[in-house]
Amino acid sequence: MGRHAERAAAQAGASEDDCETMPDLSNILREPRYDLVKAPTPLQRLTGFERKLGRPGLYMKRDDLMEIGLGGNKLRSLEFWLGAALRERADIVLVAGGATSNLCRLTAAAASMAGLDCLIIHNAEDTPANRERSFLNRLFGAETRFIGPVGEDERGAATKAAAEELSRQGRAPYIVGDAVLGALGYVLAAFELQEQSRREPAPLRHVVLAGSMGPTEAGFIFGNAMLGHPFQVHLVSVEYGQAELEARISRIYDGLGERTGLAIGGLDHAPLHYHMAHLGGGWGVPTPESEAAIVAFARTEGILIEHVYTAKTCAGFLDLVANGTVPPDEPACVLHTGGTASLFAQREQFRTVS
Ligand SMILES: Cc1ncc(COP(=O)(O)O)c(C=O)c1O
Repeated sequence: MGRHAERAAAQAGASEDDCETMPDLSNILREPRYDLVKAPTPLQRLTGFERKLGRPGLYMKRDDLMEIGLGGNKLRSLEFWLGAALRERADIVLVAGGATSNLCRLTAAAASMAGLDCLIIHNAEDTPANRERSFLNRLFGAETRFIGPVGEDERGAATKAAAEELSRQGRAPYIVGDAVLGALGYVLAAFELQEQSRREPAPLRHVVLAGSMGPTEAGFIFGNAMLGHPFQVHLVSVEYGQAELEARISRIYDGLGERTGLAIGGLDHAPLHYHMAHLGGGWGVPTPESEAAIVAFARTEGILIEHVYTAKTCAGFLDLVANGTVPPDEPACVLHTGGTASLFAQREQFRTVS
């Protein structure tokens, strides 16, 4: 095992004996990475829910508990994005997203740590409310530009145009967001979780993730395949219908195969389950169940989750446990992907808590 693989294994808590049997990560660890995440993040037993539901084996992987920018899944991707930016000798990173985007906030935080400037293109109106929502980005030293409520394609074009303009001015811009590169963070996270799982009284059988743009999910599914599929993976869609979600994941998964050169079999062989019941009115629109999940996690575990991503995912997790999809003797884990900062801008969306 090479130096990089040893480091990943050590971060994941593996002993030397374990390392002998680990699949070869060298193709992934060859990519430059900027250190942002002290792995492993906690694998926390949900003892409150175990008591309440009268069953053992309920866990949360706390990717919200990281040192930088209030943490979250995007930091694992940013390790690779900033690694690439620094390799290319960029001096400014560009990123695009809504006013409360976790990607934007974490990019601003990570860029400040890496000594890079950061320009954020917000596809939102320039209103006092949106400026307040993006306050942390400017606190981290990023410049924020509001281009109005345009779609993903127009936002991408505006970001590219801003990067070209910067190049003309003699700057070296790097656009954050390559889905395949970002997904590598969650390939490694699957290994990390597997190492933690092996140290529990009974290994995890089910992992529940948000189904959204895809890098987190596709990376985890790819890592799970490299490991020989120890986990049944459940995706709770929070953004797209099933066909669109499947297409996004499949594109990134195939891209991972090409980038790493690892032939690990197609997605159709993966133990993968799509759950659409919590999508409700779509991205960012709360449902009675998502609000109930926020309240239940706050009052049962003292854990904060928010409306857009984690509430629906956790509502799905509780459903799968309640309806027996996750049987009482099969340990299950929900991934907390962070985003908790958004909760402070969501107070008016609550119906049951004033
Ligand atoms: C808190 C949080 N969870 C989950 C996701 C979804 O991750 P992905 O875009 O990798 O599907 C995001 C994406 O922005 C997020 O901010």
